[in-house]
Amino acid sequence: MNPEVFPCRDKYFEQTMWQRKDLLGLEELSPEEIRQVLSIAESFKEVSTRGIKKVPALRGKTVVNLFYEPSTRTRVSFEVASKRLSADVINIAIEASSVKKGETLIDTGRNIEALKADIIVVRHGSSGAAEMLARHVGVSVVNAGDGWHEHPTQALLDIFTLKEKLGKIKDLKVSIIGDIAHSRVARSNIWGLTKLGAKVTVCAPKMLIPPGIEEMGASVTHNLDEALKDADAVNVLRMQFERDENTAFPGRLQYFKTFGITQARLDKANKDIIVMHPGPINRGVEMSSEVADGVNSVILEQVTNGIAVRMAVLFLVSAVREEKNETIN
Ligand code: CP
Repeated sequence: MNPEVFPCRDKYFEQTMWQRKDLLGLEELSPEEIRQVLSIAESFKEVSTRGIKKVPALRGKTVVNLFYEPSTRTRVSFEVASKRLSADVINIAIEASSVKKGETLIDTGRNIEALKADIIVVRHGSSGAAEMLARHVGVSVVNAGDGWHEHPTQALLDIFTLKEKLGKIKDLKVSIIGDIAHSRVARSNIWGLTKLGAKVTVCAPKMLIPPGIEEMGASVTHNLDEALKDADAVNVLRMQFERDENTAFPGRLQYFKTFGITQARLDKANKDIIVMHPGPINRGVEMSSEVADGVNSVILEQVTNGIAVRMAVLFLVSAVREEKNETIN
């Protein structure tokens, strides 16, 4: 096939370590597998700069977006990525689906499989939902965020953006600030970054640091200035007020005063510090608008990079199923 229309073909066949039909989390991936996704995403990034932003890599395949929780970036990004790969895309509107009549996740997944889809991209409020679905269907499952557990493609696009900006991941000092307790983004970033040799610090009030974070390889501080000092990058997380069952959260103003990223605070950090946020931002809670829209911010570049990273993931899980089917046939 012409590499002009299928830019990562050679990279895929040179580096065939990816053998997974699903992408469920970064905890289970090896550093080599993470590097393979990043490398293929690099090739796919160029596709979005073409006049005709399409390659035929997934022509004839069907991707179903099954989102049980709200999403702007991830859902649209998977849809754009699928279309750039020439796949057909179906978005299931949960509110108008038989989920409202009590259909289970597994039954929904099996019916999507019976409709001959190839990949289900699932977001769900329960940790472990993507893994459970993957065990019950033969089609590929890509986790687009499950409860507090993992959001692997968000972390991959964060890491991709860091590597693009700073040229490497090994030995980078990355501070993750905010609601670590409820954050699947934090968990996936910690797994991914530490596997690639970065030094990760998490910073939050005590009630927003869950147990077991240090065992994952991250250092903990409750002092924002300490987290910013010498950091190459900060990844600032959204306060997930909708998950606050125990009213454990500090007030918004109080939080901003102690943990909010302001220009005055950034001025005391490394002048080239990279500011990231997975979105959506609570402006005036996690960071000021001046910082969100300022020169250190790469927040919208993260969103753009999400397309290439998700193209790489969809391509890899699909290629594995294709290979297995060829072997069976
Ligand atoms: N970063 C992220 O997951 O955003 P959405 O909830 O809009 O998908």
